[in-house]
Amino acid sequence: MSNVLRYGGLALSLSIAAPGCGDDAMAPADPGTTTSTGSTGDPAVTSAGSTGSTDGGSTSFDTEDSGATTEGMDDGPAPYEWELPPGFPMPQVPEDNPMTADKVELGRHLFYDTRLSANETQSCGSCHEQSRAFADAEVVPLGSTGEILARNSMGLTNAAYSYPLTWANPALDTLEQQILVPLFGEFPTELGVTGHEEEILARLASDPQYQQLFADAFPDADDPYTFEHVVKAIACFVRTMISGNSAFDRYTYQRDTSALDEQQLRGLELLFSESLQCHHCHNGFNLSDATRHAGTVHDSLSFHNTGLYDVDGDGAYPVGNQGLIESTFEADDMGAFRAMTLRNIAVTGPYMHDGSVATLEEVLDIYSRGGRLLDAGPNAGDGALNPHKSGFVGGFALTDQDREDLVAFLEALTDEEFLTDPRFSNPFEE
Ligand code: HEC
Ligand code: HEC
Repeated sequence: MSNVLRYGGLALSLSIAAPGCGDDAMAPADPGTTTSTGSTGDPAVTSAGSTGSTDGGSTSFDTEDSGATTEGMDDGPAPYEWELPPGFPMPQVPEDNPMTADKVELGRHLFYDTRLSANETQSCGSCHEQSRAFADAEVVPLGSTGEILARNSMGLTNAAYSYPLTWANPALDTLEQQILVPLFGEFPTELGVTGHEEEILARLASDPQYQQLFADAFPDADDPYTFEHVVKAIACFVRTMISGNSAFDRYTYQRDTSALDEQQLRGLELLFSESLQCHHCHNGFNLSDATRHAGTVHDSLSFHNTGLYDVDGDGAYPVGNQGLIESTFEADDMGAFRAMTLRNIAVTGPYMHDGSVATLEEVLDIYSRGGRLLDAGPNAGDGALNPHKSGFVGGFALTDQDREDLVAFLEALTDEEFLTDPRFSNPFEE
């Protein structure tokens, strides 16, 4: 697999910085998903984003499908009510894990519960903090047993739309698959569940609160306490972490022309300009080309080398963190990573797959230079000369004023509501 660019000739100007890149938006609903428009049955609703229905309020849908596969239809588990921000398409939801309010609630408890790690020291929330859009402040985090992870904890803003998941793993197709990594992974250990499955499930089963939560979430199961259910519930919860009420959203999707000030507007124009080219990779409603939603027909993967390293003069990234090549073994995939969403970017630093860039100003200077120069240390080299670098990272002139304007715009991508929304908060601290 090579670095497939999915920009498909979409020159995104402000007016179409829009919802679900044209090609996707025109597509019929993907038959492989259960994310129907639910009871409304109106196909136009799915593409609310593409039709620009920016009437200001949230659009709500429910995910109740035909019912045939929905567990416990007799007493009808309440389907989860999506309250998608204007401009947002429906996320894809795996057929075997339909969204229900009860699974989301169970998942929220599990996400924040340190009893889920073998030594009871860490939860998902330890590395994914709500006030940081579910990233953390570390360069790279430590797992529950103290092992160092290679990669920076990424924010979970709109992870429901991430495709594929994580910084550079083309095999992680769904949240359900990704969540197995922090739970069971041993290289390195994160929550350290492997070998402690029964013990951990017994902890949950003995807690009256979980007895209720599991019974509600999986009413038809003979044994509700399984890791399959744990994973499904957490995936449902993470899938609800949708953020789309930044000042940028109010300006773009909610017709509030006063939402961005002059400086932020200058930054917006720069970001979407052909001289900076950011939008070739950070595009669509989620400002990331590694995005998928219900109705997406092109499931091609996008990874890019942005010229952060060149340790051997031949394009190598530091051993142990070389990106897509670690999965594909294709020389040209050296240093290729996923273009993250720029939403909530001001609160998720430090940046990049290895947390090696401290501030947004530094990020901009690296792109302006067309790659990073490291003139000392074990990783010394000029990333601008990396032969695997994307053609869109060619460098550009950036005045101090431009840099300030861009940072001001990137800060306008912060959705304060998301960072404090009680629906995503730690239930054990209530
Ligand atoms: C020790 C810190 C740590 C813990 C604990 C942890 N994560 Fe993560 N998480 C990370 C890091 C680091 C990445 C990036 C991994 C990579 O690219 O290899 C990540 C990536 C993710 C992603 C991918 C998001 C995307 O958009 O691609 C999801 C989802 C996620 N974690 C959810 C969880 C859940 C759910 C749990 C609990 C079961 C959890 N994490 C526990 C550090 C952690
Ligand atoms: C060729 C595609 C491409 C272009 C063009 C591009 N980016 Fe990126 N961007 C990426 C990728 C890939 C990453 C992750 C790279 C890594 O970690 O090695 C990234 C990372 C970032 C990050 C850090 C994300 C995080 O969560 O740590 C920011 C901020 C960012 N880019 C902003 C910009 C801006 C601003 C521009 C325009 C000046 C731009 N990007 C141009 C692909 C691109």
